[in-house]
Amino acid sequence: MRYEGKAKKVYATDDEQRYVVEYKDDATAYNALKRGTIQGKGVVNNAVSSVLFEMLAEHGVPTHFLERISDREQLVRAVEIIPIEVIVRNRAAGSFAKRYGVDEGLELDPIVIEWCYKSDELGDPPLNDATAVALGLATPDELEDLFELASTVNDTLLPYFEERGLELVDFKLEFGRTADGDIVLADEISPDTCRLWDLASGERLDKDRFRRDLGSVEEAYQEVYRRVVEGAEPRPIAGADA
Ligand code: TMP
Repeated sequence: MRYEGKAKKVYATDDEQRYVVEYKDDATAYNALKRGTIQGKGVVNNAVSSVLFEMLAEHGVPTHFLERISDREQLVRAVEIIPIEVIVRNRAAGSFAKRYGVDEGLELDPIVIEWCYKSDELGDPPLNDATAVALGLATPDELEDLFELASTVNDTLLPYFEERGLELVDFKLEFGRTADGDIVLADEISPDTCRLWDLASGERLDKDRFRRDLGSVEEAYQEVYRRVVEGAEPRPIAGADA
């Protein structure tokens, strides 16, 4: 194994340009202070992320994704992860709502794109452009690429989720450098890394159900799977409080 993260394992293959990523059911929140298991999450996230990465590639976004090879595994291009978490916010929620003292759900115009330093040890502190460059995390040109790619991902995902009865509130992206130095979208896009609210009811269909102990966690992940992977009609999740 090359690397074990909180939700995934990464394996080398015979081809040094290819890795296999395995999605686990393990869930953590608040920088791993809260830990648990979400049954079936690995299968859901692998499938949802595969569908979304394929769709984004069709819209001109370069990605690491090559192929979903089993329920829990996908084949990806080997990249060096840029240690910057790119957060895109269409509405205030989570740490943003808390930081600025605004209600969750407040529409943001313009949308907000934030950088955080990907470091569990430091608790993913915020970065501005100068800090990211001064710390050697990315070049100014790379930051421009990250911004443009993140905007394109948002413009592509917003209508895609809306057609499936989901409001994309915010999400986190990670990018990698290929051996040639090209920047590609990496990591995953799933209910672990997005806030997705049911358009009809406002019900949360993402990891906030786990973070905030809202119940019906597995059901929420399965509902996103139904809508995104199976193209099924939206339905409410049973037993959800909100
Ligand atoms: P936040 O409101 O906690 O800053 O999260 C913003 C979005 O980014 C939300 O959709 C969850 C996602 N996210 C991750 O995927 N991983 C992380 O480590 C953090 C902090 C946020």
